[in-house]
Amino acid sequence: MCGIVGVLGSHEVAPILVEALGRLEYRGYDSAGIATVHEGQLDRRRAVGKLVNLSDKLVREPLRGFAGIGHTRWATHGAPTEANAHPHAGPRVAVVHNGIIENFRELRAELAVEGIETRTDTDTETVALLCQLFLDRQMTPRAATEATIARLTGAYALCFLFEDEPDLLIAARKGSPLAVGHGEGEMFVGSDAIALGNLTDRITYLEEGDRAEVTRAGAVIFDAQGRQVTRPEKRIAQAAAQVDKAGHKHFMSKEIAEQPRVLAEALRHYLTPEGGITLPEPGIDFTAIDRLTLVACGTAFYACNVAKYWFEQVAKLPVEIDVASEFRYREPPIPARSAALFVSQSGETADTLAALRYARGQADSILSVVNVTESSIARDSDIALPILAGAEIGVASTKAFTCQLLVLGMLALEAARQRGTLDAAELAAHVRGLRELPALIEQGLSIEAECQRVARGLSEARDILFLGRGRMFPLALEGALKLKEISYIHAEAYASGELKHGPIALVDEHVPVIVMAPHDELFDKTVSNMQEVMARGGKVLLITDAKGAQVAAEGAWEVITLPEIDPLWAPILYALPAQLLAYHTAVAKGTDVDQPRNLAKSVTVE
Ligand code: M6R
Repeated sequence: MCGIVGVLGSHEVAPILVEALGRLEYRGYDSAGIATVHEGQLDRRRAVGKLVNLSDKLVREPLRGFAGIGHTRWATHGAPTEANAHPHAGPRVAVVHNGIIENFRELRAELAVEGIETRTDTDTETVALLCQLFLDRQMTPRAATEATIARLTGAYALCFLFEDEPDLLIAARKGSPLAVGHGEGEMFVGSDAIALGNLTDRITYLEEGDRAEVTRAGAVIFDAQGRQVTRPEKRIAQAAAQVDKAGHKHFMSKEIAEQPRVLAEALRHYLTPEGGITLPEPGIDFTAIDRLTLVACGTAFYACNVAKYWFEQVAKLPVEIDVASEFRYREPPIPARSAALFVSQSGETADTLAALRYARGQADSILSVVNVTESSIARDSDIALPILAGAEIGVASTKAFTCQLLVLGMLALEAARQRGTLDAAELAAHVRGLRELPALIEQGLSIEAECQRVARGLSEARDILFLGRGRMFPLALEGALKLKEISYIHAEAYASGELKHGPIALVDEHVPVIVMAPHDELFDKTVSNMQEVMARGGKVLLITDAKGAQVAAEGAWEVITLPEIDPLWAPILYALPAQLLAYHTAVAKGTDVDQPRNLAKSVTVE
């Protein structure tokens, strides 16, 4: 949550900071701000709302200087006002922050005793004021920052800029990611490699508790114990930091369209020519575990819900599943002979990371399925499996979901192979099914025009229901989440058979009911539930394949037909209508598809 950037440049940094903030806007867009040092003077500009407001302000009130920091905010403490916008200043020090300073009230009280008043509702302001207090006590910027950080409780990625030292940025991380970028006579700090994508491809990721003193000559890094340490410099592939829309109107639309390609890449990465699965060392022994625990948030959690069916059906491996925000508070005992697997696109979701740390020491092994391979969740896992989706910028997760499903599906097959629960022919058939996925998804994308047409009707609804049975139930949940988050239409998902136990009371001619039902072993049962809806005047959108449409289209308001697929992998294909219907409904309503209200891409606070 929140994106931060710092630049020690060789020319004016304001435009560089704004460009980098544009790449970070996916992390938050409640306000944006920058601070620079010019001719011994620290100054800042901040604006509420999207970055464009800050850019406009900078045209009216330019900021000069070759050193600066910037921030894009997802509000936690204090409303999105200009006063609460970062950078916060001391006034001889400015700071940008991602995370939450939990002891800010205590720090505020201490500052008050010193006669220092806070003027904002934020936790971050206390960091700037505390650092200023130490500077006023004649400490050097380095010492003042060290003393400040020592007083902080909570999670932070911080970057400090000092009026008296235009060749110094101090960066520190604990609980929130931070990277240092290396240029030619220039140095950078950013929340992630994407932020620095246009500036450098040489990145050093700070580790938990690190503090970096960055000058144009390089970075000196200290660990949590204050020891000087060396952290590796990595080359970041251009594609990993790519954030353009490639001709699409929205990132979400581009990311939906990318799915055939990224799924094919993930298949190439994991599947051996013989149909086996390549896992990172030390591998996973599925015969040594009797239970798997799957934990995640949001869309990643729905991917886990699908995977539960896969692991239980094909590998006969019992799966426990929970949302990360509840997992550790439930205090679930984790028995011997079990593994825990955490799924996260960003790899930085605070709840998922905390759940992982709860499981550490209890589960035999800690696995993760992540998109960002340098993330905290990946680093804290015994084995991290990359989903290889490439940068996902749209707040609504799309290609990460299908890639998570693909990796989880391959893992379930590997578990089945090791545990001998599928014979060679069955395994080979399912592997063939996986290999067909990119082509089927490509073919499936042809439903877009229909989804766009149907979405015009959906955009007028106040409430929408999604139904699915078995492996399609989590897809119904994902469809409802997608629609809610970008179109702001109230949507609920139910297991088809559950509708008659209460929610069917909601059904009338104004409530579209979207039924996800490939022609599989549960089709007839789902169709019976669909009939119950239609018998009560419900307006059904049936999403099925040609066989399903042939037998069940009659009486439906609309039918969308997808290619036939190995029923096991249908959830991956049926993600497409869930995504496309949400996307086109949001476009029809004119909402901000890539940056929906109140949300941010990665949720690094609890
Ligand atoms: O980065 P993560 O996968 O851990 O994020 C989890 C959720 O915050 C995320 O999936 C969220 O639900 C998406 N906005 C859904 O589209």
